[in-house]
Amino acid sequence: MTRLELPERFPALEREDENGRRYVHADAPGGTQVPVSVIEAMTSCLTTANASPNRVFLTSTETLGLMADSRVSVARFLDADPDDIVFGPNMTSLTWHFAHAFASRVSPGDNLVCTQLDHDANVAPWLAIAAARGADVRLLPIDPVTTRLRTELLSEFVDERTRLVAFTLCSNFTGTVTDPTPFVDAAAAVGAVSFADGVAAVGHAHVSQRRAGYDVLACSPYKWYGPHSGVLSIREHLRETLTPDRVRPAADAGPRRWERGMPSFEALAGVRAAVEYVESIGIDEMTAWEHVIAERALAHLAELENVQLYGLATADSRAPTLTFNVDNMAPKAVAQRLAVERVFVAAGHNYAIEPARALGLEVASGAVRMGFAHYHSLDEVDYACHTVADIAAQARIG
Ligand SMILES: Cc1ncc(COP(=O)(O)O)c(C=O)c1O
Repeated sequence: MTRLELPERFPALEREDENGRRYVHADAPGGTQVPVSVIEAMTSCLTTANASPNRVFLTSTETLGLMADSRVSVARFLDADPDDIVFGPNMTSLTWHFAHAFASRVSPGDNLVCTQLDHDANVAPWLAIAAARGADVRLLPIDPVTTRLRTELLSEFVDERTRLVAFTLCSNFTGTVTDPTPFVDAAAAVGAVSFADGVAAVGHAHVSQRRAGYDVLACSPYKWYGPHSGVLSIREHLRETLTPDRVRPAADAGPRRWERGMPSFEALAGVRAAVEYVESIGIDEMTAWEHVIAERALAHLAELENVQLYGLATADSRAPTLTFNVDNMAPKAVAQRLAVERVFVAAGHNYAIEPARALGLEVASGAVRMGFAHYHSLDEVDYACHTVADIAAQARIG
């Protein structure tokens, strides 16, 4: 098998250059492409039921139904409670919003625990509220060789004054997957809140808030075949007791008390369709295929002499995200050369400044990140990796 059979078309993947050749969209960690059903759901929302909720007419009632249905779909996908699902423009905005509300629980002398593996959206808000409230931030380190978080140190980092433990389920920089259990347990042991960034994990592997027990789970549907938008799943004990910034007539109970103004209803329609798309294949099938992709890409890149690969050496416990540098070549120059050959990748720190720093990289230039998704074929993976090999070979000669 050289590709997973897809139940639907992804129109963006069919785009061709002037010579009729397709592109390899290998920036999946930056955002995935969307299937036809997601596009149609969004179009249908705008063409048939473009209305505000809570009015007395048909299309308004449909909008209200869409809001409820979308929460149910996302809750099913994340194994969470529909009442906990809060929608917003993206994960970063929602996390700042939550952090502002949470600041009231932080006092001088308290501490917040973050990690060196996280995207800055799960670090900067905690730094900001800690600074405002006279608290400390403790950054749990990674092992720079394996890129795994050093969870054995958690008992030294978390204490009676810890108010929050924020961690990632998967690094957007290296694809390293984290076991949430030590973080959730450490937070629960001292009555702290556990905040899991699932942006780079959801859509690559099964995520269950109920089973894992984190108090807050963040994710972004545009990383799992949906439209640009964000989700926080905030468990009831926080959702109902914290006081988010809100206008006075806003709902004073349930997820709507956290949603500022009107959500993008067309995005909600797309998110619901994205969940149904993933379910139509099955997340476990996607994970299994992405494992094959990661193995293949790792095997290719690991044998290149002048290519430094970062992250776990095997495809286990990692997303199909490959991060590397070519000796004596700027990451952006590598990305530009790949783009000329129709392979689209990211270069830089990708907002993961702590991981880039921990790996000893120059943060501003970072590394090249080639990230795949379930819709990639092995031929595309081979082509992308062979192109890296050609660029690296030329760099060696030149
Ligand atoms: C791991 C991780 N966390 C957080 C974010 C921020 O997500 P958003 O763009 O929805 O604000 C990203 C975005 O790339 C990410 O990869």
